[in-house]
Amino acid sequence: PHANIGVVGLAVMGSNLARNLASRPGNTVAIFNRSYEKTQTLMDEHPEAGFVPSADYAAFAASLSKPRTALIMVQAGKGTDAVIDELVKVFEPGDIIIDGGNALFTDTIRREKAVRATGINFVGAGISGGEEGALTGPSIMPGGSAEAWATIGPILKSIAAVAEGEPCVTHVGTDGAGHFVKMVHNGIEYADMQLIAEAYDLIRRGTGKSPAEISEVFAEWNHGELESYLIEITAEVLRQVDAETDKPLVDVILDQAGAKGTGAWTVQTALDLGVPVSGIAEAVFARSLSSKPEQRAAAAELPGPVDTWTVEDADEFIEDVRLALFASKIVAYSQGFDEIVAGAAQYGWDIKKGEIAKIWRGGCIIRAQFLNRITEAYASDPGLVALLTAPYFVDALDRAQGSWRRIVAMAAHAGLPSPAFSSSLAYYDGLRAQRLPAALIQGQRDFFGAHTYKRVDKPGIFHTLWSGDRTEIETEPSSH
Ligand code: 6PG
Repeated sequence: PHANIGVVGLAVMGSNLARNLASRPGNTVAIFNRSYEKTQTLMDEHPEAGFVPSADYAAFAASLSKPRTALIMVQAGKGTDAVIDELVKVFEPGDIIIDGGNALFTDTIRREKAVRATGINFVGAGISGGEEGALTGPSIMPGGSAEAWATIGPILKSIAAVAEGEPCVTHVGTDGAGHFVKMVHNGIEYADMQLIAEAYDLIRRGTGKSPAEISEVFAEWNHGELESYLIEITAEVLRQVDAETDKPLVDVILDQAGAKGTGAWTVQTALDLGVPVSGIAEAVFARSLSSKPEQRAAAAELPGPVDTWTVEDADEFIEDVRLALFASKIVAYSQGFDEIVAGAAQYGWDIKKGEIAKIWRGGCIIRAQFLNRITEAYASDPGLVALLTAPYFVDALDRAQGSWRRIVAMAAHAGLPSPAFSSSLAYYDGLRAQRLPAALIQGQRDFFGAHTYKRVDKPGIFHTLWSGDRTEIETEPSSH
């Protein structure tokens, strides 16, 4: 046995990670796939990698040095359980199984517990960066035990992206912590993409610029504080011309967004945890709305302004959109970090927010210049209650809020949907408000269900006798 790491599942992510691993000094990579054909193809196409192939699980285990370490890259779900079952049969206590797919973190918690009972280590690792990231350097978010991290840390560091001289991988926390953080990453990804899409739509409809012209706008934004992978690829997509029709590609792509589920998980989990990730939720719902062609067709005649809008000063307007995008993006990240904090408290993970911001600076889909500011914010105040309140962001929001309000108001007037922009602004103003109408809701709850309320002026729990003489009673004695 001489391979120090093995990869199971040789679809594009698995193949690219295997090649990435093989390209780093010190690694010999064992490979296995359910059908041998894929294994053979990878061997034929990449003789330089020096892969050690196997046709069955026993041979795969025998080709690995101890502690055996296998990275599973199969479709998340039942396939993952099947592979784990097979590996557990041929691995021994102390060996390590890593699931690098987009698993639901509660599945990872369950699997880790079951595998740990056999003495084998199970690590759920979020891996972000798509096909190219897998090959050249992804961002990696591993959970699992400290013991497993001691072995796999150096291997994962060898293949991860590097940002500001540091590898984009850290031991996130135990059991499902890594997949939890990857889930939130994807939720932020959804929000960021929706915000960018709204920005494009507003510019197009407000100024009449073509996709190619708007591509230039995004390319320019990518030189400033919005610099990020998603802004960069947006410019690429907008500049693409369809070979068949000669139209902008974006105009021939069906406007129904797909989703594989991680965004929905982020929101479902946030609902359970009671964390208002409203910007992320709007992004998930916006994809759902887009994918309801029958409803959309039926609603086409609903009253409201249609394409009646032109802005007076295109340059000023575009700058407003840029600032609205930046402010809304700050909200999305802040909400995502809130969910990580709540998840860590709920599941007993010691997750360092600053470390997460660091490993998202490179390799992953949401990598952005801006992550450096988040890293700095948590470095100077690890107990920061809301990312929005860090000095850099207070200043950014101060600069942006006038534009943000103008854009949301204009969009509402023009009848243009901007759910992520407007919900982010509503969240911001809700958080800022020192007095909320939640007081009235408490009154209503007390009226119809005797759900009680607290008072601003004295401790205790109170109820008004709504159906009686409407006097107030104290339902539980206060400590005074
Ligand atoms: C990543 C991506 C990756 C995948 C998304 C796509 O971090 O590399 O997030 O995991 O592309 O799951 O998600 P949707 O298909 O739901 O848009």
